[in-house]
Amino acid sequence: MKILVTGGAGFIGSNFIYYMLENRPDYDIVCLDKLTYAGNLKTLSEAIQNPKFKFVKGDIADREFVDNLFSQEIFDKVVNFAAESHVDRSIESPGIFLQTNIMGTASLLDACRKHSVSRYHQVSTDEVYGDLPLDRTDLFFTEETPIHTSSPYSASKASADLLTLAYFRTYNLPVTISRCSNNYGPYHFPEKLIPLIISRALNNESIPVYGNGLNVRDWLYVEDHCKAIAMILENGREGEVYNIGGHNEKTNIDVVKTVLSILGKPESLITYVKDRAGHDLRYAIDPAKIHSELGWLPETTFEDGIEKTIKWYLDNKEWWQDIINGEYRNYYEKMYGNR
Ligand code: NAD
Ligand code: DAU
Repeated sequence: MKILVTGGAGFIGSNFIYYMLENRPDYDIVCLDKLTYAGNLKTLSEAIQNPKFKFVKGDIADREFVDNLFSQEIFDKVVNFAAESHVDRSIESPGIFLQTNIMGTASLLDACRKHSVSRYHQVSTDEVYGDLPLDRTDLFFTEETPIHTSSPYSASKASADLLTLAYFRTYNLPVTISRCSNNYGPYHFPEKLIPLIISRALNNESIPVYGNGLNVRDWLYVEDHCKAIAMILENGREGEVYNIGGHNEKTNIDVVKTVLSILGKPESLITYVKDRAGHDLRYAIDPAKIHSELGWLPETTFEDGIEKTIKWYLDNKEWWQDIINGEYRNYYEKMYGNR
């Protein structure tokens, strides 16, 4: 079994590669990644030692390059993690989101068709469903919830999902899609809420909280997401969408206070800043389908997962300090300087 993992130098893709190398040692894994600001080869330094793993630098939207790679390697399955993934960046510069998330997905789908790949899996997001009201805690996203996007990021991801389903219906391409809630864990880029809190709190810097901090996200430990994708890849039904989430809803301010308390840092670091444009209020996944069809359940509680994550950031300071001391400084100043 040879699988192509795109975007494997990023947060979830790299965790998936390590999960598969450990749990499916007979698989050959090729990672294709453009190494954008979010991709980091250091993250894959252990994987690169493994003879079952190979790294290829390239752009999923470069059709000629992708076609050549598929001719050389003969993949059985493809898992597409590669994307521009940060909502705030999509509000500043939507173009690259359309290019990578839509055109890149189209290029992979065409290569899968041409080279008769037996499964294409699209890693999508709960953000394609838009948001839920804060005062209706009885409502959850199911796979039947209509697509209703808020940001250029989520609109680009929804477009990719629609294309993927169109290739199933029109060309019988064997596809699956997973829509997951907010992940956290090792190798999470410090522009995202949890690693941003950890890295800034450890440096005794202010923690920017958008709006009133009462927006809700449904947090899932990244390894649970990786297990779910492996199950879908192996046993998911073609043409189906699977929601992934752990019933772990928290307000942003709760998350911030929990992390500060574990780190022994004062709440005076919290700084309320101007809200995100179009900020989704609440995400909450109903994972009943993947549970009943594939037997998946999250295994890591938020309490255990956040402890493990904080420990990882404490044990791997060099990984995130290299990032925040580089180009990221300009990013932070641009996004938060006048907020
Ligand atoms: P990330 O930003 O950490 O990593 C993205 C990776 O894709 C990087 O390694 C980057 O170099 C690579 N990449 C970007 N453009 C590329 C291109 N044109 N060609 C090849 N590689 C390219 O993202 P992440 O948080 O790991 O998310 C991975 C996937 O999971 C995305 O599709 C995202 O939409 C989805 N997702 C993320 C979350 C979350 O909480 N982070 C939740 C649900 C779904
Ligand atoms: O739900 C899945 C999605 O989760 C994925 O599809 C995205 O790729 C991923 O980035 C994530 O999107 P969010 O926008 O929910 O994640 P982010 O970490 O950017 O923000 C989480 C919440 O915290 C959100 O309500 C905005 C808020 N926030 C974020 C940052 C970066 C702050 O209050 N302050 C901040 O500085």
